Amino acid sequence: MMNETLKTIADLRSVHGDFSEKEIGTEDLQTILNSAVRAANASARQSYSIGAVEDSDMMKKLCGYTGSKLLLFCVDYNRIMDMARHLGHEFETNGIVSFITGSTDTVLAAQTAAIAAKSLGIDSLFSNGIHRGDPERVYELLDIPRENCFPMIALVLGYTREEPEYKKGRITTGVIHFDKYSRLTPGEMDQLVKEYDDPSRHLTLTEGWRHGFEHYLDWFYAKWSGKGDTQAMYRVLGKTGFLENSGAATAE
Ligand SMILES: Cc1cc2nc3c(=O)[nH]c(=O)nc-3n(C[C@H](O)[C@H](O)[C@H](O)COP(=O)(O)O)c2cc1C
Repeated sequence: MMNETLKTIADLRSVHGDFSEKEIGTEDLQTILNSAVRAANASARQSYSIGAVEDSDMMKKLCGYTGSKLLLFCVDYNRIMDMARHLGHEFETNGIVSFITGSTDTVLAAQTAAIAAKSLGIDSLFSNGIHRGDPERVYELLDIPRENCFPMIALVLGYTREEPEYKKGRITTGVIHFDKYSRLTPGEMDQLVKEYDDPSRHLTLTEGWRHGFEHYLDWFYAKWSGKGDTQAMYRVLGKTGFLENSGAATAE
C-alpha cells in the first residue's frame, strides 16, 4: 500500500543544480529545519549543527551548486562543550568514536530534511562538493570552529526547473542481506553487470560511458573511481581533533 509518506520517499531524487528561480518561503525553511532536528540522535545530545545559507555566491563557493537555500550539516560538539564549561563541567570528545556517532546524528538529520522538503514539493541535492579542492575554505567562509566540528554534507534545496524523465534506479542484490551476509555469486555478478547496462533501469551516473566501454561498470571502475586528495581531508580532520586517539573508553 502506498501512503503519503511512502510516496514522498519513492519520489526522492536529486536535482543536479538545475533549480528554478523560485524561492523557498521562510515558513517552509523553518518546517524543514524543525523536521531535520526530529531525527534520532545519540544520547539525545544532537552532536551536529546546521548552517542555513541563502546567498548564492556563498553556495557556489561552498560546494559548486546553487539553489534557493543550502543547508550545511556539520558534526559539531562545540555547543555541547561550551554548555559544559558554562556549568563548570568538562566534556571531552572521544576521538573517532565521537566522530562516528556524531556523523550518524548528522546524516540522519540531513536525510530527514530532504524528506521533509520533498513532502513540501521542494527538491534537493546532497553534495560533498564541500570536500572537493581544499575543505579548509568551508571553515573560513562560514567561521566554523576548527576543533570538534566537521562539515559533513551540504544539502541544496530548491524547486526543480523541470521534472526529469525518469528517476534513478537502485539495486538490492548484494545490498540487502536477510539473516547472514552472503557474497555475490559469479552468476549474480554477471546479472548485475547486465542490469547496470540496461538503459531502462537507469542505474548509471551518466550515459556517457556508452562511448568506448563494453559495460557501465568498466567505465565506473576504470574511469570514474579515483582516490582523490586524501591529504587535504586528513589535514582538516587532524585539526578537528577527531583523529586523536585518547584511548579513553567512555559511553556514547
Ligand atoms: C554524499 C553524497 C554526495 C553527493 N554529491 C553530489 C555532487 O557533488 N554532485 C551531484 O550532482 N550529485 C551528488 N550527489 C547525488 C548523487 O549523485 C545521487 O544521489 C545519485 O546519483 C542517485 O540519484 P538520485 O538521488 O536522483 O536517486 C551526492 C549524493 C550523496 C549522498
